[in-house]
Amino acid sequence: MRTEARLEPGADGAANACCSRADDVTSPVASADAISEDAIHRLVDRFYAKVRADPELAPIFARAIPGDWGPHLATMRDFWSSIMLTSGRYKGNPVTVHRRVEGIELELFERWLALFNQTCGELFNDSAAEAFRGKAIRIAESLKLALFYRTEHPWPRSVK
Ligand code: HEM
Repeated sequence: MRTEARLEPGADGAANACCSRADDVTSPVASADAISEDAIHRLVDRFYAKVRADPELAPIFARAIPGDWGPHLATMRDFWSSIMLTSGRYKGNPVTVHRRVEGIELELFERWLALFNQTCGELFNDSAAEAFRGKAIRIAESLKLALFYRTEHPWPRSVK
């Protein structure tokens, strides 16, 4: 049975809405651009190559993943496969994992998304790229809320 990836077990529907199958995945896209396991493999490899070369993000990832990147890349392929193809392969909890990431900052999500958007644009046609971007933006919003939202500092933090 296929299961959907969830950000936080037991979280409400709104928080998990980000993780259901992309609405437009079934619309026709050119075969070279189709969202497939192979395409996800290429996306993950290319995106994390950019992350590892990025002056802001690289040190955070290098600290969290000092050795073999193989397991992280495999996890990320499972994650995107679950999100985009509802394969159910990803079983983790991104909120819990990101809470342990030393140096993660609200502002860095913009950079992460910029690199992700760029990578999608390089690999996919507009329709497929937008399907990935839409998911990434919503998941990033959920992560930011889970990691940084504090009732005593109403959202967004920089607005008084
Ligand atoms: C500033 C933004 C971000 C930073 C610095 C960041 C950093 C990291 C790092 C360092 C890890 C590896 C942690 C470890 O293995 O100990 C990780 C894992 C992961 N990240 Fe991010 N991340 C960011 C944003 C995102 C976004 C927007 C998504 C989703 C769209 C995402 C999805 C994931 C997933 C699924 C994992 C694997 C979790 C697991 O092991 O189950 N991340 N991230």
